[in-house]
Amino acid sequence: MTKRLLLFATLLGLGAGAAHAAYPERPITLIVPFAAGGPTDVVARIVGDHMSRTLGQQVVVENVTGAGGTTGTTRAAQASPDGYTIMMGHMGTHGAAPAVYPNLKYDPVKDFVPIGLAAGTPILIVARKNFPPKDLKEFITYAKANSEKLNEAHAGVGSVSFTTCSLLNSILDIKPTRVPYQGTGPALNDLVGGQVDYMCDQIVNLTPQIQAGSIKAYAIATEKRSPALPDLPTTKEGGLPEFQVSAWNALFAPKGTPKEVVTKLNGALVKALDDETTRKRLLDLGAEIADRAGRSPEALQKLVTSEIARWNKVLRAQTAAK
Ligand code: MLT
Repeated sequence: MTKRLLLFATLLGLGAGAAHAAYPERPITLIVPFAAGGPTDVVARIVGDHMSRTLGQQVVVENVTGAGGTTGTTRAAQASPDGYTIMMGHMGTHGAAPAVYPNLKYDPVKDFVPIGLAAGTPILIVARKNFPPKDLKEFITYAKANSEKLNEAHAGVGSVSFTTCSLLNSILDIKPTRVPYQGTGPALNDLVGGQVDYMCDQIVNLTPQIQAGSIKAYAIATEKRSPALPDLPTTKEGGLPEFQVSAWNALFAPKGTPKEVVTKLNGALVKALDDETTRKRLLDLGAEIADRAGRSPEALQKLVTSEIARWNKVLRAQTAAK
C-alpha cells in the first residue's frame, strides 16, 4: 500500500471509529415481526423502554407482520447494518423457521449478529373460557374424541405458537383446523371472544388473562411451575410429560453491524435486565431472565445454533410420521 493510500485508509478508519463512538445519534428502529400487543411486542416494548434511557435515543418498535414472523425478520436481515435497525427475534424466527420454510430468505446464523437474550418464555396450553375440558387429562381425552371439530389459533407457519402446537397435536395425534393470525396478540383476542378453541402460547401474553379468568389454562410445558402462575400444573403433573417446550426472545442486528455498536446495544440490554422495575414487569408476566453470562452475544449464538438443530429434528420427524 502506498503512503497516500495508507493515510486515506487510516483517516477512514478514524472517521468510522468516531462515528461509532457517537452512536446512537438518532432513534433506533426495533422490528417486531408480529402484531402489537403480542408476546414479542410486549417483551420488546418493556426492554426497549429501558434501553432508550441508557442509549439516550428512542428505541422505536415497528411491527412488521406476516408469514409467521419471517417477513419482518427478512426486512431486518436486509436492513443497513449501522445499528439503527435491530429486531426482536424468537425461537420461531431464529430457530424453527428454517425447518418449515425451505426457501427462507435469511439465514438466522449467517445474516444476523446476536445482541443478547431478552427473555425466556415458557409455553402454556390454553383454551377459551367455556371450553368443556376442566383439566389437562380431560383436554387430552376431549381433543382426541373431537379432533377434527377443533379450532387451534396460531401466529403463522414457523411461529412459536405454530411449532409448539404442531408438537402437541402430533403427540396427541389430533388434526384440528389451524387458524393463522398475524401474532398471538390478535389470536388471544379471539380466544377470549370464544371464536377459537385453544392455542399454545408464550406465558407473557397470557398471564393477565388467566389471572382475570377470561381464558382457561391447562398446563405449563416446563419442568417447574412458574412463580407468576403458581397454581398452574406442569404438563408432567397434568399427565403429558412428553410435551416439554419453552421459547425465548432475543435481540439481533443485521450481519455487518460494527462490533462496538453491538457491544453498546448488549450493554444497554444487560442494564435493562438488571433494572428492578424492568425485571419486575417481565417477571410478573412469567418471563424468565437469564443471568449475566446467558445475556452475552456468544451465549445467544450458541442458543440459535442448538435451536435450529433441535427444531429441524422435531419438525422433520413430524413430517416423516404423516
Ligand atoms: C407474537 O408475538 O405474536 C408471538 O411471538 C407469536 C408466536 O410466535 O407464536
